[in-house]
Amino acid sequence: MTKALRRPLIAGNWKMNLDLQAGRGLVRALRENLSDAAADVAVCPPFTLLAAVAEELKGTPIRVGAQDLFWEKSGAYTGEISAEQLSGVGCSVVLIGHSERRRYFGETNETVARKLESALRANLMPIVCVGETLEEREGQKTYRVLETQLRGALSGLAPTEAGKIVVAYEPVWAIGTGKTATPAQAQDAHLFIRKTLAAVFSPEASLAVRILYGGSVKPDNIDALMAQPDIDGALVGGESLKPVSFLRIIHFQSPAKTN
Ligand code: PGA
Repeated sequence: MTKALRRPLIAGNWKMNLDLQAGRGLVRALRENLSDAAADVAVCPPFTLLAAVAEELKGTPIRVGAQDLFWEKSGAYTGEISAEQLSGVGCSVVLIGHSERRRYFGETNETVARKLESALRANLMPIVCVGETLEEREGQKTYRVLETQLRGALSGLAPTEAGKIVVAYEPVWAIGTGKTATPAQAQDAHLFIRKTLAAVFSPEASLAVRILYGGSVKPDNIDALMAQPDIDGALVGGESLKPVSFLRIIHFQSPAKTN
């Protein structure tokens, strides 16, 4: 399967931003201005806005995602939310292992693996986030970090499940810093990720996995990123809170290339 056969995916990660009114306003603007996008689109609001956003987006092609989940179905886990509860309010996507969760909330490759399994059990589309810090990149450890994160997260999955997952490459040094990886740097990491997926699953299965780039994606860099053969979409933070910017990113202008 070449890039042309992997439908692009543009997902917005709202992080801990927006109240109910602002969240509704943002998705209304998206809903009303989304023209025939060449990409699948998802928004990932905070938990408190999921039900309202899902209601606003009902009947539209825009999917609703959560930013995290817990692996048990229900029970005495104060403060946590399960995959089943997410799908019950209209969510069909979930971010797993975002670097901010790894950094501030003790997320590990083991917890990522358990969360991934629970997302698949509930038929949610997981977006598994991986990426190196600046120190790791400067220490020539990027590939090693990516491989450890991917193998840690994915080794419990059967090759037949590979097509159900999305991977997001988010170099930590590019998140919220305004410093984007160059298209060549991102392509290099994406190709390495695809080769690792080929080793974990199979070469064929690796070609079906969409690999998103995340880290200071903006209207003025999306086209060059999307022109890379192994970049299948974007996970967008700050710019996904601005309707005009996010719409421009969704409607990126790059010829689909084959590899
Ligand atoms: P950013 O965030 O686009 O604001 O850099 C990306 C992310 O953390 O998903």
